Amino acid sequence: MSGGATEFAKSAQLFNSSIATWAVSAAWDIDLFQALTEADEIDIPWYAKKEEMDEPSLRYLLRALSYADVVEVDVDRVTRGATFEEFAQSKGLFQWLTKGYGSLFQRMGEVVYDKHRTGDYIRRDSTAVSIACRDANDVFMDAAFTEVLNGLDFSVAADLGCGSGERLIQLAKRDPSVTCVGLDIAAGAIEVGTAAVAAGGLQDRVTLIRGDARKLGEYEAFKDVELMTSFLMGHDFWPREQCVELFRGIRTQLPNLKHFVLCDTHRNADDETPDLPLFTMGFETAHALMGQYIPTREEWYSVFEESGWKCVKQHVYSTPANTVIFQLERVDSE
Ligand SMILES: C[S@@+](CC[C@H](N)C(=O)[O-])C[C@H]1O[C@@H](n2cnc3c(N)ncnc32)[C@H](O)[C@@H]1O
Repeated sequence: MSGGATEFAKSAQLFNSSIATWAVSAAWDIDLFQALTEADEIDIPWYAKKEEMDEPSLRYLLRALSYADVVEVDVDRVTRGATFEEFAQSKGLFQWLTKGYGSLFQRMGEVVYDKHRTGDYIRRDSTAVSIACRDANDVFMDAAFTEVLNGLDFSVAADLGCGSGERLIQLAKRDPSVTCVGLDIAAGAIEVGTAAVAAGGLQDRVTLIRGDARKLGEYEAFKDVELMTSFLMGHDFWPREQCVELFRGIRTQLPNLKHFVLCDTHRNADDETPDLPLFTMGFETAHALMGQYIPTREEWYSVFEESGWKCVKQHVYSTPANTVIFQLERVDSE
């Protein structure tokens, strides 16, 4: 066998793309996107020495990146490639996949069996997920959220599934009279968030609590909340009946609550789409493996209606696909 490039072409392409996927994630870890934004070209041996890296490893990482045109390598020189800007933006979603959910996908062939889906079978890296989501929010989502905020009046804000806490940190920085409380079930996320709150000197106005948002009624800290947000975790409120009950409780048990801004990625209504957009296949597959139902947009509307919320405005993101900000107001506010 010659082993030429035409043999197993599809397999080779997929195999090489997988390595490039990890390399995109690694490029963020080693600050390469930043370095190649600041400099038009980098001398590879010089960079490896300066950063105390193994030069051959760095060179193979760069070769994997050049496979996806992220960089161009010319002997000792690396420069930005044709897709550099694109991947500098999408890197968070790659890190969500590789570091956040890598250990789950690694066990895909196990967790597909009922017998392996018992107890605490889900492995993911919640620290990596929170950092990846912080970047995806920054790149893709925050601009539209800021626009939503401009029309809202509040002095106490809460974020359910707050991850890195970045949303609350931004809210506190934006208005020094605002106090914030965040809730997240994952220790890794609360750790990342607590460090960021301290780094911003916001400990007196931003409190992060480790806990379950499905049991919101148990937390005193939320009773005065006027703005409730929840980004990229709404599906964790499902199954439907549980979600309806929780949303009804949020409305009836928080008397000061004026605005509920919910943003989530919903199920792609068309399962047959051959060319799925960035993120969709990873998101839907990961949640299927975890046994977490992902509602469609229509199913969300029916939950709002049944739990006493109306969607007064929405923003649909193109990336991540199928991701919508639902701006909700209580039906009893009129
Ligand atoms: C995809 S991340 C999004 C984080 C953050 N909202 C953001 O936009 O960057 C989802 C977060 O929801 C948290 N989460 C999932 N189920 C939860 C629950 N029942 N109660 C509180 N947090 C939960 C996860 O730990 C994770 O940090």
